[in-house]
Amino acid sequence: MPATVVVGAQWGDEGKGKVTDLLAQSGERGAAEGPVEVVVRYQGGDNAGHTIVVGDDVYKLNLIPSGVLHPHITPVIGNGVVVNPHRLIEEIDELEARGISCAKLRVSGNAHLVMPYHIELDKVKERYLGKNRLDTTKRGIGYAFADKAMRVGLRVQDLFDRKIFEEKLDFVLKEKNAILAKIYGSLPFDQGKIAADYMAYAERLKPYVTDTTVFIHEALREGRHVLLEGAQATLLDLDHGTYPFVTSSNPVAGGACVGAGIAPRDITRVIGVAKAYITRVGAGPFPTEIHGAEAEDMLERSGRDARAGIEFGTRTGRLRRLGWFDAVLLRYADRLNGFTELVITKMDVLSGYAELPVCTEYMYGDERYKEFPAHQSVFHHCEAVYERLKGWNADISKVLTADEMPKEARAFVEFLEMQTGVPIRIVSVGPEREQTLRIAA
Ligand code: IMP
Repeated sequence: MPATVVVGAQWGDEGKGKVTDLLAQSGERGAAEGPVEVVVRYQGGDNAGHTIVVGDDVYKLNLIPSGVLHPHITPVIGNGVVVNPHRLIEEIDELEARGISCAKLRVSGNAHLVMPYHIELDKVKERYLGKNRLDTTKRGIGYAFADKAMRVGLRVQDLFDRKIFEEKLDFVLKEKNAILAKIYGSLPFDQGKIAADYMAYAERLKPYVTDTTVFIHEALREGRHVLLEGAQATLLDLDHGTYPFVTSSNPVAGGACVGAGIAPRDITRVIGVAKAYITRVGAGPFPTEIHGAEAEDMLERSGRDARAGIEFGTRTGRLRRLGWFDAVLLRYADRLNGFTELVITKMDVLSGYAELPVCTEYMYGDERYKEFPAHQSVFHHCEAVYERLKGWNADISKVLTADEMPKEARAFVEFLEMQTGVPIRIVSVGPEREQTLRIAA
């Protein structure tokens, strides 16, 4: 029953899409688990953005698992995802127009729907919070998950029973419209228009909706390799991330069991994906963040390869905050996820630095923290303690094996491995599928 989870080890945008894409290829056929045949998204919603570069083509996906680019893969949107049906249909149409079939896509009937009032509430709440805002993606994600927890959410399966859909909508919309009008001074939503729009979505989505837990269970029973694709990342996890600057679901590996409906024993491999440096979109603490000229310099380096693009959020186009690699965070992420291996991405961006700081612990007052501090006030005010490694000057974007890397780059990888205690198996040195080097076990 081989199931692999791919999880972001930092604050998101680590390049999980590329890793899923690599695992889906035949190059992995020799691996114990066999080729990936099913890729499941297990949490989040269209707040996620996966960028995959294939030759001159760049695909930006929000909801559909990146495995869709491979004809042999069945992409699944699990019960743990909140689905904006309008965006999902748009994405299907965009992919189909570019010759990528979505015929195999499966969507869980238990997944919750993102409704227009979730999006509006997300927007007005962020405005209301002012300088205390979370800098959400404004896709209504938090409100959709809140309604799920409050048991007033509408689910994908409700689309196929108009009476139930309208009853639930009637109940919930009265409250939402009152909040929108009385607290935020916004215009109310028209119930008839929402119902009509969603019934039209139902027609389009019907062929894809199914009991995905049965499908995934059968795939596992038949020994087919299932890949569970986390969106966002460990430090954005609702329970374990830098609350409240987090997303409203559980990206950690344990979330895959809940959001896909599989058992913990099904998971055989947990791949953590980390950038060779760190980026974060949105507000919240970030001990290794760099500013000013140092940040501008790194930003420019990140855009050196135009196909990868400069560090803008895939979903929001916002400039990402930048910082040095943080081994304390990675150790924390490993504790939560139980990584069996790490993939380090965007290593090419670090070429040309004379020295590379890596954070190995934090200082708060006179106290040293080797592990992630439990109290938020410590984390918000701690300072990064760095070890400075020697940089390398050579262009590594075409390197295929660890032996071809400059010795300083090898030493950098080995240092991260030693600091995190997790073996690094893949290093990505550019956006293309080929710009990937595998490190033997
Ligand atoms: P929300 O998920 O839109 O509610 O946003 C909550 C926080 O998570 C914000 O700081 C977002 O910038 C961040 N976030 C959500 N999705 C992603 C993602 O896919 N990559 C990086 N950050 C994200």
